[in-house]
Amino acid sequence: MKIGRSFLGVSYLALTALSLSSLSARPDKVNELYLESCASCHGSKFEGGMGGNLADGFWKHGESDHAIARVISQGLPDLGMPAYEKTLSAEQIRSLVVFLREKEKSTKTQSSPPPQPKEGRAVKSLEHSYKVETVIGSGLKTPWSLAFLPDGCRLVTERPGGLRVIDADGKLLPDPVAGTPRVIELGQGGMLDVAASPDFAKDGWIYLAFSDPLEGEKMRAMLKIVRGRIRDHAWTDEEVVFQTAPDFYTSNGVHFGTRMVFDSGYLYFIVGERGGKMEVQDLARPNGKIYRVFPDGTIPPDNPFTADKNAIPGIWSYGHRNPQGLATDPRDHAIYATEHGPRGGDEFNLIRKGANYGWPVISHGMNYDGSPLTGLTEKEGMEKPLLHWTPSIAACGLTCYTGDKFPKWKYDFFAGGLRGELHRIRVQKEKVVADEILLSDLGRIRDVRTGPDGFLYIVLNQPDRIVRLVPAE
Ligand code: HEC
Repeated sequence: MKIGRSFLGVSYLALTALSLSSLSARPDKVNELYLESCASCHGSKFEGGMGGNLADGFWKHGESDHAIARVISQGLPDLGMPAYEKTLSAEQIRSLVVFLREKEKSTKTQSSPPPQPKEGRAVKSLEHSYKVETVIGSGLKTPWSLAFLPDGCRLVTERPGGLRVIDADGKLLPDPVAGTPRVIELGQGGMLDVAASPDFAKDGWIYLAFSDPLEGEKMRAMLKIVRGRIRDHAWTDEEVVFQTAPDFYTSNGVHFGTRMVFDSGYLYFIVGERGGKMEVQDLARPNGKIYRVFPDGTIPPDNPFTADKNAIPGIWSYGHRNPQGLATDPRDHAIYATEHGPRGGDEFNLIRKGANYGWPVISHGMNYDGSPLTGLTEKEGMEKPLLHWTPSIAACGLTCYTGDKFPKWKYDFFAGGLRGELHRIRVQKEKVVADEILLSDLGRIRDVRTGPDGFLYIVLNQPDRIVRLVPAE
């Protein structure tokens, strides 16, 4: 599919990238707000004083975000907690809730850290004991995604541009596949996702999603998807599956989105917002959308926006920030995505046809500098996440576990995070009934996959390697 619409005005995007890079030098706005308004009674380290401790995880007056926001806004007049509804905006109050959640989590992580598994040692979790086993310990550069082929080979993308092969004996071949598309490793971009066609044994198609440099330029890129075949360790037969018009290419290096998943004869994939907030609410622009196309890139006639002349017809859902996990539940073919929020508000979403996921109108997060983003966490006509992580786990990589090595985990979702946590999520009747942190500290988790052998594979950066979880019972 090709998108041909023009739009001017990308300079603001470049500014966003600039402000992100100077982040560390800037004061934390929400910390300033806390010190000014709250520390006199709750202590500069949240330890309490005239008011209670705000970081110990005990919430006497209600532990939901809503209850905490209500205390701040209406106060507790009988106890001496002032009401802030007249002096602070809803946005500022939300930023304080996010801030207090960050403090609560760091106290909790210090007092009872999640498991930090050592190679080969059994770790007990709620339902299974597991061990971490190294699959590929060295030789990869920023591996991003892993795909399994029916003959036992595996493919791994490397963000700087490589497509690597692990042969059926488990050996990483020294050279990348020759002749794969040129990419630019612009910020978070590069060679990103890889997926094999569900009919690979018959058609041999491999799908690659990557940041495509604008013809003749080095500094502007946009997500592109191609498919091709590998013959004699070389990339051949390439066809374009998805590409946008040149106007949408930008020098902003953030939020490519990217993941691809096949289900019921369709290919689903993500284009992140690429730094352009409101554009994600505009169906005429490719940013911040999840797409559904046929495997050759053509548009299914019953896609939700095909009747809208202005809309990009491949769009399946919109209002996304930067989802980087996409998985399908084989039992009911429901599609799930994990999404990076800003500072706070990472999401686990059930992706419904035509639905609006609300970015940046609703969010559980605030801006990176601690300034408020929105006071709204829900709104009529916008989907709420099934689960949100505040503070953010930097959600990346998602799989629905379909193996048989961990029977009690069957059909649970496993979500990785660049901050190092692996979460096990159980969904029942469209509700999250469990969210267990299985491990942390192995590195930045880029991708999580169920292997055809039933083991759970994890692609890591810093250090760059691939490990898997095997039963330890
Ligand atoms: C003049 C003192 C004072 C100031 C200023 C103050 N608080 Fe409080 N706060 C209290 C008291 C007293 C309580 C009730 C403590 C208790 O129940 O033991 C309280 C309770 C709370 C609670 C409920 C805690 C729980 O366990 O459920 C929250 C949340 C809270 N304050 C947040 C804030 C925030 C955020 C600010 C700044 C915007 C703030 N407070 C400013 C005195 C204050």
